[in-house]
Amino acid sequence: MKILIPSDEGLHTAAEALRAGLLVAFPTETVYGLGGDGFNLQALAGIFAAKGRPRFDPLIIHIADLDSLERIAATDSLELAVRDKVHALCACLWPGPLTLILPKQPDVPDLATSGLPTVAVRFPDHRVAQQLIRLSTGAVAAPSANPFGYLSPTKAAHVQEQLGDQVAFIIDGGPCGIGVESTVLDLSAGSPQILRPGGTPRERIEAVIGPVAGPPLEPGSTIHSPGQLKSHYAPRTALTLHSRQEMIHLPYEPSEAYLFFDRWSWDAWVQGLGLMYPAGTSRIRVLSEQGNLAEAAARLFELLHEFDRIGVSVIHAEQVPETGLGLAINDRLTHASCRKALKP
Ligand code: TXA
Ligand code: MG
Repeated sequence: MKILIPSDEGLHTAAEALRAGLLVAFPTETVYGLGGDGFNLQALAGIFAAKGRPRFDPLIIHIADLDSLERIAATDSLELAVRDKVHALCACLWPGPLTLILPKQPDVPDLATSGLPTVAVRFPDHRVAQQLIRLSTGAVAAPSANPFGYLSPTKAAHVQEQLGDQVAFIIDGGPCGIGVESTVLDLSAGSPQILRPGGTPRERIEAVIGPVAGPPLEPGSTIHSPGQLKSHYAPRTALTLHSRQEMIHLPYEPSEAYLFFDRWSWDAWVQGLGLMYPAGTSRIRVLSEQGNLAEAAARLFELLHEFDRIGVSVIHAEQVPETGLGLAINDRLTHASCRKALKP
């Protein structure tokens, strides 16, 4: 594996590898993806093998221009009203952190869609991702570049640690701006439904197409999206999720980690304990001092990765407000809390 910088030369090298059926990890605005040619069976099989991902969990095909949508998805088989919604979403929210589930074109490999009649398509809002897709095959299958069930990577170093020996190249495009995966919206069944909350808040989708259903509240309650398994997005360390009230009353244990939403809760906790702030510890962190949900999302996986790296016995995390990106953050934290601790 080699790390490439996203220069013209680096991108051409990576694109050539993709065309040859190899795997390349690349940055998007949400998280790093593990890319392979969406029409190459060997590359697709390689993605499942590299991640240890079950074959029943389908992949997202990434495109880099609106014209490519029809190559992947058969939108003309949708009812007219739904087709209009798809076009409105593409016009207003693409490129961006929104994945659409649509009827698939017959020649999209079953391996990519796990045999489903539908396909996930996304047009990422990231210069490096777009250039790589355009220079390679125009349709790049890419799950998040992490071993199955583990935290998504938001930096090239995360990919290197987790999957470094599984890919030909990692393109280092710096940290991902959004930090949580795309919102997955199913339009294949008529009425639109969010299967996975993510980087595009529900409010933005509803502003374009009106009310949407979902996501299921309890993780794992009904698995509409094959990837929404109970224990997804988990750090290796056990995580416990707390309301703000619970969080600010927790006792302090030096071996445990504390992830506060904002400065207000952190202050309340420190005051309640009546102790001096244990200076220099990286086990007590605040997602966003000012309580900004976009900043909190961008830092979430990075801080969870860091707790895993330093080794703590348990992570206490505070729920964030359930608006905008808060839905995606709480979803990832809830899934993480369903997971028993794993060996590193
Ligand atoms: O932000 C993202 O979406 C990132 C970056 C790399 O683009 N990718 C990503 O891929 O998160 P992945 O594979 O980790 O998650 C894809 C999700 C899974 O939950 C999968 O089950 C769901 O999309 N999905 C894919 N195809 C589907 C389909 N046909 N029907 C329902 N859900 C589908
Ligand atoms: Mg993933």
